[in-house]
Amino acid sequence: MIRLAVNIDHVATVREARGGIEPDPVHAAVLAELAGAAGIVCHLREDRRHVNDRDVRVLRDVVTTKLDLEMAATQEIIDIALDVVPDLVTIVPEKRAELTTEGGLDVASNLHFHTDLASVMHNKGIQVSFFIDPTPVQVEAAARCGADIIELHTGTFAHSRSRIEREAELTRLRLAAELAAEAGMVVTAGHGLDLRNLAHIGSIPHLEEVSIGHALVSRAVFVGFERAVREYVEALASLAT
Ligand code: PXP
Repeated sequence: MIRLAVNIDHVATVREARGGIEPDPVHAAVLAELAGAAGIVCHLREDRRHVNDRDVRVLRDVVTTKLDLEMAATQEIIDIALDVVPDLVTIVPEKRAELTTEGGLDVASNLHFHTDLASVMHNKGIQVSFFIDPTPVQVEAAARCGADIIELHTGTFAHSRSRIEREAELTRLRLAAELAAEAGMVVTAGHGLDLRNLAHIGSIPHLEEVSIGHALVSRAVFVGFERAVREYVEALASLAT
């Protein structure tokens, strides 16, 4: 069964709208775990627009499943990761003005940098995932750098406007997943997934986990956090049958 990792960034986005203490993303993490999430994801951005340093540290103490710190590979955030020691880091590209992560990481053009980064994290016992577009070049580069996991960017799939576009992107995702599994890496996916488009991702081979944030938090506004998480867990379970 494909596991669900819950990204809690947007609980913090609501908190930051008023600059107070509610809603607390740590509270959301606990509810997500109680409702069946296999992991908690948060993205500590350079501008701290949603989760902040305190959140990451408290999450490290509270999360009992798996804490995935999504991060750009800047020295400031690398130092925080090495100090907090999440179970895993997911390396993403980050642009200051973007609304959310746009496009995958270019591992292939920066092999030495990403190899060194993976090795620094591994020395601390932190697993390394690269968030990449589903192309053979990036999958092979991730393997060469020593990544444990690749997270395939599903944004293009999620935003496809026709069945033809969607099938073309699913074909790229399937091929990338095959190559990654052959290279010995764990395959995960994320970005733009929701209760509707989730039905198609069961066709991606070797997919072990999905990371879902915006749509799940949006659903939680109407039905509550635990119920929203359960709906996603159930949707993933139904893919297996
Ligand atoms: N995976 C990565 C690497 C991301 O950057 C994001 C967005 O923060 C997600 C998954 C979750 O995407 P969404 O919020 O669209 O579900």
